[in-house]
Amino acid sequence: MGPGRRRDPTADATRFAGSVARVIPGDIDSERIPTHIAAVMDGNGRWATNRGLKRTDGHAAGEEALFDAVEGALELGVKWFTVYAFSTENWKRSPDEVRFLMKFNESLLQRRCEELNELGVRVRFIGRRDWRVPKRLIRRMDESIELTRKNRRMTLTIAFNYGGRAEIVDAVKAIVDSGIESSKVTEKLVARNLYDPEMPDPELMVRTSGEFRTSNYLMWELAYSELVFTDVLWPDFRREHLFDAVREYQDRDRRFGGVDD
Ligand code: FPP
Repeated sequence: MGPGRRRDPTADATRFAGSVARVIPGDIDSERIPTHIAAVMDGNGRWATNRGLKRTDGHAAGEEALFDAVEGALELGVKWFTVYAFSTENWKRSPDEVRFLMKFNESLLQRRCEELNELGVRVRFIGRRDWRVPKRLIRRMDESIELTRKNRRMTLTIAFNYGGRAEIVDAVKAIVDSGIESSKVTEKLVARNLYDPEMPDPELMVRTSGEFRTSNYLMWELAYSELVFTDVLWPDFRREHLFDAVREYQDRDRRFGGVDD
């Protein structure tokens, strides 16, 4: 929702009833909605610092943005929505911030998983489950996956302790371990060994906070994605901004290395 825009008064009422209707703004082509949108939720720290708050308050404020974006994606009929919750590089942050993020992700899953389930959202994770990720969080991830596994309306993939290079390295390791001959290694085989082989490549990647980088996000999967960057800081991001990104995506000319007819 953009600044000054009024939210649909029925939205809160329907939110917990699991009935976010498919409502596509008239100027968005319903035939060309991306199947998969990936988002980098950047700018939480700056949002908080600008207000004289702690960086971690910015992450907490990002929760509302995340849920508004999820509902916006459901309204559009997006089937896959992927968010970058914690990168393999985020361990370099202060121990306090890392501890906060672990606890925050765990509590968010505990508090909101039922709501995601009612919305028909299937929750999945990509990333390394190494010893640094607290056991309680891993348990919460598994519970969220189990509770929502039958949902088909949309898949929310949470990239946690995720790095695009790490994902490619892990795929290569799995391929080498399988003993396959190098002549049999194809792009399809690599894709089949990524963290979630079912996940289609995103057609659109949105990054907030005015940073023009992909920062090790979905390196393989973003090869042909349209990239949209917005200055909005993640805690201020609302479904209207997602709709704007889709409008920009629909204005792009996707050629995949070919030429126009
Ligand atoms: C980047 O902002 C944001 C993060 C590292 C974490 C964002 C996480 C959430 C909003 C919670 C999501 C949780 C689940 C379970 C999906 P930044 O700290 O890099 O901001 P800055 O660039 O201004 O410092």
